[in-house]
Amino acid sequence: MKILVTGGLGYIGSHTVVELQNEGFEVVAVDNLSNASIEVLDGIEAITGKKPLFGQLDLRDKAKVQELFKKHTDIAGVIHFAASKAVGESMEKPLLYYENNLGVLVYLLKELQKKENANFIFSSSCTVYGQADEMPITENAPVKPAESPYGNTKQVGEEIIRDTCRVTPNIKAIALRYFNPIGAHPTAKIGELPLGVPQNLVPFITQTAVGLREQLSVFGDDYPTPDGTCIRDYIHVVDLAKAHVKALQRLLKDENESNYEVFNLGTGKGSSVLEVIQSFERVSGKKLNYKIVDRRPGDVIQAFADTTKANTVLGWKAQSTLDEAMKSAWEWELQVEKNRSAKS
Ligand code: UD1
Repeated sequence: MKILVTGGLGYIGSHTVVELQNEGFEVVAVDNLSNASIEVLDGIEAITGKKPLFGQLDLRDKAKVQELFKKHTDIAGVIHFAASKAVGESMEKPLLYYENNLGVLVYLLKELQKKENANFIFSSSCTVYGQADEMPITENAPVKPAESPYGNTKQVGEEIIRDTCRVTPNIKAIALRYFNPIGAHPTAKIGELPLGVPQNLVPFITQTAVGLREQLSVFGDDYPTPDGTCIRDYIHVVDLAKAHVKALQRLLKDENESNYEVFNLGTGKGSSVLEVIQSFERVSGKKLNYKIVDRRPGDVIQAFADTTKANTVLGWKAQSTLDEAMKSAWEWELQVEKNRSAKS
């Protein structure tokens, strides 16, 4: 069965392509390579023994989206990762985010409306909950006003899909609300490749440990949490990728209860920034250079998932521990460093 994966060479996209190929799906991956490297295809091949069909394509070009569906009339499902994801950048360039994250979504859904049967998986985010009033966060927690255009694209994206599914019964969709994806494939053949200075915690930690960054700034230790630092639900990217395959299979087997469903994807366990650092030090045997600085504007105090729905309805559960995820992130960073030195 042929599955279209947009953003298929990106961080979560590439890990999902691997899991899809491992399950026997034929993958068409498209990516505009704005935040991914073509070499990711080699990594996928090294792991699975097979390269997906690949097209370098910017989906903001509506005609290209139409062409893609004309070329592949037998697409059985779409997993849509292609999007911009930097919160800070979205504050500077809101229209880029609305065009890239919402314009493209509309073009894809228009193509799916033309099909007899369409199955669609959307990358959403726990950012839609803002600072939730209760922990752990269930899917029924209210969606809070977005703090950034990026966050808004995830909220509005979900609404666009919900409204489309309401009027188009031939489209079945699942929105997956990710908590904090970290780590890399255990083979260290694919992983996260942040452009420039990483904004997210784990790549900043590993780049500091490898000597690319001088010091990690821990944003605030005066939050109302046990050690004063923020709490998040860090989920291994391979676990996350497997959840996409489960969600897709649910739709393909017609097991969905309604044609638009939402699932949280997390581990259910919250970890503080200091606990993440300790985990890194444990698995790498290295001391991390860090200092406590002021809070980062826009950070919520804590966010971790109630995963009951994904566990029971989707039949999926995160398997990896924080230490395992941190170990894979570290091994990936060492591999990237090795490639970097080999090139220079
Ligand atoms: C961020 C986005 C979220 C997005 C996710 C995907 C915000 C408010 N949220 O999540 O919408 O879906 O990325 O990538 O930006 N930290 C440090 N020092 C650092 C970096 C981070 O102390 O150099 C802390 C943060 O304060 C936070 C935790 O580490 O407590 C995780 O931060 P990060 O990795 O940026 O993820 P989120 O902010 O949770």
